Amino acid sequence: MAKQALFFLSLLLVFLFHCTTTLGQPAQAPTLPAVASPANAPAPPGPPDVIKILQKVGGFTILIRLLKSTGVADQLKGQLNDSSIRFTLFAPNDNAFSNLKAGTLNSLSNEEKVRLIQFHILPTYYTLENFQTVSNPVRTQAGDNKPGDYPLNVTSVGSQVNISSGLVNASVSGTLYSNFQLAIYQVDKVLLPLDLFVPKPPSPAPAPAPTKPKAKKTPAAASPKTSTSSIVVDSGAASLAKHGILVSIGVAIFIPFSL
Ligand SMILES: *[C@@H]1O[C@H](CO)[C@@H](O)[C@H](O)[C@H]1NC(C)=O
Ligand SMILES: *[C@@H]1O[C@H](CO)[C@@H](O)[C@H](O)[C@H]1NC(C)=O
Ligand SMILES: *[C@@H]1O[C@H](CO)[C@@H](O)[C@H](O)[C@H]1NC(C)=O
Ligand SMILES: *[C@@H]1O[C@H](CO)[C@@H](O)[C@H](O)[C@H]1NC(C)=O
Repeated sequence: MAKQALFFLSLLLVFLFHCTTTLGQPAQAPTLPAVASPANAPAPPGPPDVIKILQKVGGFTILIRLLKSTGVADQLKGQLNDSSIRFTLFAPNDNAFSNLKAGTLNSLSNEEKVRLIQFHILPTYYTLENFQTVSNPVRTQAGDNKPGDYPLNVTSVGSQVNISSGLVNASVSGTLYSNFQLAIYQVDKVLLPLDLFVPKPPSPAPAPAPTKPKAKKTPAAASPKTSTSSIVVDSGAASLAKHGILVSIGVAIFIPFSL
């Protein structure tokens, strides 16, 4: 009787051992590809790289081009190097850009393109839940130098997040990236700031005009064309000034003659 029981027990043990070894091998294999999926991949060393993240997701070629050409990508990269600095980026995909009215981007100066891109960046890390308690208007990178400039309103109920620039109503259509420092949300429209696309009647010049040349431009002073050209003169003079006083004097002499 005891012998029989012992025999049965050993038979059972052999059977169980066989089961666990054969089942053990295939059970491990499928877990590997799951870990390798982009969302779960271990974070690469160093700060998050916005361009690499967008390239990996795909479909953001226009945003990537603008981030690079405006220098905002490099700026973010440098700032994210400091782990106490946090951002939220609203990322319109190529489809969103192609839905813009023809010529919208081309109508902008380089400086305005910088503002447009900065308008999509909030100087805070927001989870989707954070948006439910945000107080409007939220600050954007574009409005950094004057509070109240370039505001965005964000309204959220449940997992739905809507964004309004006053010109455009957009929605968050997905989370592309989120860690403690950086969140990137896909949005279905390019966020056009009122500050860029609706001309302000009273005082359009943010920077003080150069010396005297404005006096000569009498009739068309309020038109948007003169304000953009004055910006070009400003930035040219500013960057030239870095090269020395002699150059600035040269520019000061040159400007009145050229007008
Ligand atoms: C990031 O910080 C490290 C040291 O903390 C420095 O060596 C590196 O140059 C910085 N990179 C950028 C892009 O600022
Ligand atoms: C977001 O906008 C959609 C229309 O685009 C609207 O149906 C929805 O109620 C809005 N949700 C919130 C939270 O504002
Ligand atoms: C944004 O929200 C503020 C405060 O609620 C409101 O005064 C303003 O009109 C809103 N702007 C837009 C464009 O929705
Ligand atoms: C955006 O939404 C608000 C309220 O939901 C509406 O009053 C406004 O007309 C919308 N603007 C555009 C450009 O669709």
